[in-house]
Amino acid sequence: MTTQPSHNDSILIVGAGVFGLSTALELKQRGFLNVTVIDRMLPPVPDGSSCDVSRIIRYDYTDPFYAKMAREAVGVWKSSKLYKPYYHPAGYVLCSETQHNEFLDQAREVMRKQNQPYSNFRNIQELHEIMPSLKDIDYPFTGYVNQNGGWANAAGAIGALAARCSELGVNFICGKAGTMTSLKIGPDNRIQGVNVVSGGPLQASRVILATGAWTNRYTNLDHAITSSAQPIGFIQLTKEEAEYYKERPVVDNFTTGVYIFPPTPDTHLLKIARDGHGFVNQVRIHDRVFASPAQDTNNALPSYFPQDADQALRHGLRQFMPGIAERPWSRRRLCWYTETPKGDFIVDNHDSIDGLFIATGGSGHGFKFLPIIGTYIADCFEGKAPSELRERWELTPAKQVDGPMACNDGSRGGPSCRQLSDDELFQAQL
Ligand SMILES: Cc1cc2nc3c(=O)[nH]c(=O)nc-3n(C[C@H](O)[C@H](O)[C@H](O)COP(=O)(O)OP(=O)(O)OC[C@H]3O[C@@H](n4cnc5c(N)ncnc54)[C@H](O)[C@@H]3O)c2cc1C
Ligand SMILES: *[C@@H]1O[C@H](CO)[C@@H](O)[C@H](O)[C@H]1NC(C)=O
Ligand SMILES: *[C@@H]1O[C@H](CO)[C@@H](O)[C@H](O)[C@H]1NC(C)=O
Repeated sequence: MTTQPSHNDSILIVGAGVFGLSTALELKQRGFLNVTVIDRMLPPVPDGSSCDVSRIIRYDYTDPFYAKMAREAVGVWKSSKLYKPYYHPAGYVLCSETQHNEFLDQAREVMRKQNQPYSNFRNIQELHEIMPSLKDIDYPFTGYVNQNGGWANAAGAIGALAARCSELGVNFICGKAGTMTSLKIGPDNRIQGVNVVSGGPLQASRVILATGAWTNRYTNLDHAITSSAQPIGFIQLTKEEAEYYKERPVVDNFTTGVYIFPPTPDTHLLKIARDGHGFVNQVRIHDRVFASPAQDTNNALPSYFPQDADQALRHGLRQFMPGIAERPWSRRRLCWYTETPKGDFIVDNHDSIDGLFIATGGSGHGFKFLPIIGTYIADCFEGKAPSELRERWELTPAKQVDGPMACNDGSRGGPSCRQLSDDELFQAQL
């Protein structure tokens, strides 16, 4: 149905996160002449999923496809002029309280099959030998260390990418004039552009929706994606404390889903978060009810997460960094995952609106691919991607989907997903 895009098409990308910006850069580099990115706010968008002091960069996956792709991404993080300043090769420690954890066992097997080195530890003493910087952790657990993992300054890398796009001639419209209220669709069911809060409508011959956790507000993909909020806590360390912890790797507890980063080098911020089943709100549009962050406010502003998240992250702090475990939070946040059933991204033409393309579904693991995912997305957009990739990232028609929506690729820990109460929703400004 959809014809291949041409370099003269006017391309409007909605969303300036990992998926939107990486696509904009790649299309511009491929010779597309008229590329515009719009967003609610200037990137790095403060309540977007791609904005934070840190994100884990790892290639430990149970799915060989993402393991290989993530290894390709790590290579670029380590070497490219654009991204290298934001990458920290601190190492990545995967822990479990039980000798056998399904995710860890499968990830090890993928590592072995792909000839990747890693170091097992059967107890805390063995971990101390591999990673002396973790000597103040005294809880019993097992796991393995991947010395080739680390973390990246997410907001920094996104800012640098946005600047690069702008240098190459990508147009940006941010704020109310760049906040889409709805898609503009012609009588022939062909996309014409988008309607925005102020001014507009913005015309375009192709629209790429890279709106992450907000996507279901603008087109009904309830059968393919859902959203969940995950808690992040920050603690301000002194310069001396940061110095003491600076050699630490990223440590991830797969039993609880809680993980911790080393302090940020300049600002001495400690960050702890949970990769879990998350929290949801209920947005009602007509007769649909779905989870999604607010459109018109910055939901990172209230510095809030629920009480049970607070307890879980405190519990994690006592295990990971007993020395500062009772320190008050300097900031808190709920950050949104865009979930798909198996954690596969969705990068495909919309199944009924001509000229509309979808690029989303990060499922809590999309950030590490920032340096390379634009190439994959542009290949799908131009109809050049191998069929294996097209099928993996296809937008499954509504009628073919049944079973649970939320992602569970086996990597998540902690309690089941729960609905936020009215009071919690009020405090989180959702
Ligand atoms: C707490 C947390 C921890 C994570 N940890 C990791 C990790 O350690 N490693 C890893 O690899 N990945 C991680 N991820 C996943 C990764 O960050 C995401 O997969 C990725 O950032 C998603 O990018 P995106 O472009 O889809 O979404 P976003 O960055 O959210 O971009 C969507 C954009 O669309 C904009 N938008 C929405 N509605 C509109 C509208 N109406 N008009 C205009 N613009 C609009 C938003 O403002 C937003 O900027 C984590 C995610 C979270 C939330
Ligand atoms: C880009 O496309 C838009 C929408 O069709 C159009 O208004 C604008 O003039 C185009 N810009 C250029 C430089 O061609
Ligand atoms: C992970 O959490 C479990 C359950 O609380 C605990 O038994 C284990 O010691 C923890 N490991 C780390 C590294 O904190």
